[in-house]
Amino acid sequence: MNKVLTWFDDRAGWNRPIRALLKYPVPEHAHKNPMFAMGSMLMILFLIQAVTGALMAFYYDPSPEEGGAYSSVDYIQYTLRFGWLIRGVHHWAASLMVILIVVHLLRTYLYGAYKKPRELTWIVGVLLFFVVVSFGFTGYLLPWDQKGYWATKVGTEIAGSVPMVGDTLRSLMRGGEEMGVATLTRFYAVHILVLPGAFLVLALAHMALMRRNKLAPPLMRKTGEPEKSVPFYPTHLVIEAGIALVMILGLIWAASQFPAPLDLRADVTDSSFVPRPDWYFLFYFQLLKYFPGDLEAVATVLIPLFFFGSLVALPFVDRGEERRPWKKPITTGAFVVYAVAIIILTILGAG
Ligand code: HEM
Repeated sequence: MNKVLTWFDDRAGWNRPIRALLKYPVPEHAHKNPMFAMGSMLMILFLIQAVTGALMAFYYDPSPEEGGAYSSVDYIQYTLRFGWLIRGVHHWAASLMVILIVVHLLRTYLYGAYKKPRELTWIVGVLLFFVVVSFGFTGYLLPWDQKGYWATKVGTEIAGSVPMVGDTLRSLMRGGEEMGVATLTRFYAVHILVLPGAFLVLALAHMALMRRNKLAPPLMRKTGEPEKSVPFYPTHLVIEAGIALVMILGLIWAASQFPAPLDLRADVTDSSFVPRPDWYFLFYFQLLKYFPGDLEAVATVLIPLFFFGSLVALPFVDRGEERRPWKKPITTGAFVVYAVAIIILTILGAG
């Protein structure tokens, strides 16, 4: 084995950089707190999505015709051996990714990890958040069932109601005026090519920035106090591998107990169908109800701009040294308002 590795290293010279990556010191407070493993779990979930997605792509047919997308997903779910498992894991890992990205965002937020010199790490994180949510939005249409079709119709109509550029945006997303073969092709291309590419570039940049600037110190650490650390390999990796194993077993269990749903095939003439998005978009669907007619642009443009804008602006607004949330009433208050509003809207939307 050693001979093979030496042969390989003589030609590639990867031994040293790989060792340097693995030797990275992990601060003790991060090693002991599973909340600090959420970033790595997100990376593992992405790999799980890539593998299960590639396996499904062998069978998936991105066409809205009879015998196309819907039948291929039906085949994967009910006929293909272990198809239910692959699709189930892909389904539940998508939801888990949204949950963990929120947990990770909250963890970094509460540690004030967005402050100098980590502003860029935070901003790249906000972009990753956008990419993860877009995976959910584009994936929802792919089975071409009632749920996915009608939710996407509403989703693209929301984009269409944006003042000035709305029409262009909607036909760009749909590939024309109406939803059809071009829409499905575009959503599929974005889902399997554009978003994974963007994710990889952003995630690598995110981690390079994180390593360069190191993790933020614990909240209560006095300045100047020396910080203990453990090596990433093997000490910290064992912990992360353990958490990843539990997560993977949990996904397999979820896929076996709660099969990924598949509604009836999309009936484009059935306008009585009540559109229902995936759970993490429920709050937004609910919010839209409060802004009918001329007010729609408030919910489609102003609120999302304000929400993402405030996330991007956070490191430049909250610039003081103080990182303890209880000493920063304004940012912590804003956080509570966002969290309560999203939770209440989600509950109302689900009801
Ligand atoms: C799927 C997307 C993401 C991946 C794969 C990812 C990955 C990671 C990893 C591996 C770390 C180091 C360990 C840890 O703290 O967990 C980290 C740190 C960090 N992440 Fe993310 N992250 C993602 C999304 C986000 C988002 C949405 C934000 C915030 C908007 C964010 C902000 C940060 C910050 C500020 C740090 C530095 C933490 C510190 O210094 O304590 N990340 N990320």
